[in-house]
Formats: sequence, structure tokens, C-alpha cells
Amino acid sequence: MGADNNKFFSYNEVSLHNTSKDCWFIINAKAYDVTNFLDDHPGGGDILLEAAGKDASEKFEDAGHGSAARLMLDEYYVGEIDPSTTPKHAVTATTQLPPKEPKVGKGKSSAFIAKILPFLLIVGLVAGIHFSSGSSSNSEL
Ligand code: HEM
Repeated sequence: MGADNNKFFSYNEVSLHNTSKDCWFIINAKAYDVTNFLDDHPGGGDILLEAAGKDASEKFEDAGHGSAARLMLDEYYVGEIDPSTTPKHAVTATTQLPPKEPKVGKGKSSAFIAKILPFLLIVGLVAGIHFSSGSSSNSEL
């Protein structure tokens, strides 16, 4: 399909094509149907599937594709993305979830100290009583 075929798709429409039998993604606001390219992609089909239904612009650039790859894009072009349909926080192929529990180490260690502190106090108290009663019984001898 040529780039002059100006069919418009919504972002959500592309996101529905996210399987190995129907794999589309977006590169620079253009939709590509790479279903028939999965087995032939030099970088592997899996990496394309990871980007299925998403905006793969960053990943495509990060892979350092040469001019041959850029020319091949035209073969898989299916249309433009209507920019008004792109959600504010679009799911890009590089989107990473934020860590669920930041500062996990710090929180855990202080909670651990808080847990064992009373125990340490009791052990100290018992040892103190034991020591003082022991020394007094010694002095009795
Ligand atoms: C229609 C879209 C795409 C086409 C036509 C395409 C084409 C190609 C071609 C021809 C190569 C060989 C190297 C080169 O000539 O640059 C390649 C390599 C590669 N591609 Fe793609 N690619 C596409 C999409 C993607 C996407 C979306 C990703 C990542 C999510 C990706 C990841 C890679 C990687 C990692 C390599 C390097 C493989 C290696 O060097 O071992 N490609 N691609």
C-alpha cells in the first residue's frame, strides 16, 4: 500500500490488532500492518509482537534501523493515525510501569527494627535481672 492512501485510523482501532495473526503498530503517527512480516523481520517476530497495538516509534528508532528498513515501512503502511484519538498517556511500546513500592529497602528495615526492639528490651531486662540476682547470690556465699 502506498503512503498516498490516506485512510485514517483511531489509536484505539490500532490497539485492537495486537496478536500474531493480526499485528499492527504505530510509527510516527502512521499505522502499519506487519502480520505478514513477523516471520521475516531480521530483528525477530517476538519484538514486533511486543509492540503490537502500540506506538512503536521510540523502539523503532532505538533499534537503529537503516535506510533499507525505513524504505520497507511503505510496504506495511495501512494509513494515518487521527491525532485527536491518541490518548494523553498513550501506551507506547517503551512504556514502563513505575516501581510499585519505592524505597522498599528503607521501609522494610525500619519496620524490622520496630518489630524486634521490644524483644531486645525484654532480653536486656531479663539478662540484667539475672545478672544482678546472680551476683547477689554469689556475694551471699
Ligand atoms: C514495519 C516496521 C519494521 C521494519 C520494516 C523493520 C525492518 C528491519 C530491518 C530491515 C532490519 C535489519 C537491519 C536494518 O536494515 O536496519 C531490522 C532490524 C531490527 N529491528 Fe526492525 N523493523 C521494523 C520494526 C521494528 C520494531 C517496531 C522494532 C522494535 C520493537 C524493531 C526492532 C529491530 C531490532 C532490535 C533489529 C536489530 C536486529 C539485529 O541487529 O540483530 N523493528 N528491522
